[in-house]
Amino acid sequence: MLTNKARRVLLVAFAGSLALSVASASDKDKVLTDGYASNEPVRPVLPVENIHTEKARLGKALFNDRHLAGNKLSCADCHQLNSGGDDNAATNNQGQDNRAGINTPTVFNAVYNFRQLWSGAADTLAEQIAMVVHNPNEGATSWPALLQNINKRPSLREQFDRLYADGVTEKNYMDALIEYEKTLVTPNARFDQYLSGDNDAITAEEKAGYHLFKEYGCVSCHQGVNIGGNLFQKFGIFYDYIADRGNITRADHGRKNVTGREQDDFVFKVPSLRNVAVTAPYFHDGQIETLEEAIYIMGKTQLGRELNAKDIELISLFLRTLTGQYQGRFLDDIKLSEAK
Ligand code: HEC
Ligand code: HEC
Repeated sequence: MLTNKARRVLLVAFAGSLALSVASASDKDKVLTDGYASNEPVRPVLPVENIHTEKARLGKALFNDRHLAGNKLSCADCHQLNSGGDDNAATNNQGQDNRAGINTPTVFNAVYNFRQLWSGAADTLAEQIAMVVHNPNEGATSWPALLQNINKRPSLREQFDRLYADGVTEKNYMDALIEYEKTLVTPNARFDQYLSGDNDAITAEEKAGYHLFKEYGCVSCHQGVNIGGNLFQKFGIFYDYIADRGNITRADHGRKNVTGREQDDFVFKVPSLRNVAVTAPYFHDGQIETLEEAIYIMGKTQLGRELNAKDIELISLFLRTLTGQYQGRFLDDIKLSEAK
């Protein structure tokens, strides 16, 4: 007999596979033009086209400039590009007064998420920036103060004046940052090479891991370009990880904090699994150190299955093939060379 919970999950999985088959049918022509396997539920990361290089360059300067939190923080302090695009901390702890109380997600490939933030509170990258600016634990500032601050930096101000008729404004600040965020994508993961037709790009064991990922139903939630980042799901369908951990915080309530609806309690944006091997620790609370442990917990909480050690290892080998390249270098190579 199926429990109600099991039925609900099967329905979700079924709806997921239905949506996928529709997508692959309408994408049929793409196989011919793009040359990658269109019948797979995972799609390769492609570079964003038509980026305004000059605006992206200004965006990069803004991303790295410490004009946030009383000139103590930059975006890059919490989103370290040489380290997976996150901060390697459980919950954010850059600067003593800055404790966001939730794990910092990577900025890499954020442009491909359907919403931003764990709770999906930001519909767009622009809304996300407006939230960081005002969040007392992150930007801790206001638009007037921030713009005044930027105006005091001649090189930034000069770039704004050159690129935008109205110079330093809230809208232009977001525009330049977003243009830069479009460059923060990581194509050419070994798994994407495989999807694009290179059958030898991943090993037999890694293929077996992908097969299990699909067979167990991980793919009903983690799918698409970001292998996540395109739907909301409750964390703890079969087993209440959060209650078991204890000390429930505001952040644990996830999407309910946005909608106020009871059914959104403990619901989160399904995170992207792109580059997941280099973005430990895991989950919105950052309490899980290893990928293997995260996979075990996913089986238990989301699928009602106790995965055995062998399957966990195979799935983890598959997930490690999702590490992509930034500026032509694999993110794990960048991490290693920076550590030396
Ligand atoms: C003090 C550390 C900190 C700083 C500074 C910071 N962030 Fe973040 N960022 C976070 C945390 C923590 C989250 C997750 C918050 C949440 O989900 O509620 C986040 C989330 C994001 C996301 C959403 C990613 C996703 O998958 O949902 C993007 C995009 C982002 N930040 C970009 C930026 C940009 C651009 C800046 C600079 C303007 C910036 N961040 C500054 C810590 C920081
Ligand atoms: C019913 C939907 C669902 C299914 C099925 C599912 N996941 Fe998840 N997954 C989520 C959600 C939601 C989260 C975020 C939980 C949180 O941190 O609040 C998540 C988080 C993760 C994370 C941590 C990512 C990070 O950056 O912190 C990993 C790894 C992961 N899942 C792998 C898997 C694997 C492997 C399977 C199959 C065994 C699986 N998931 C099945 C919804 C699902």
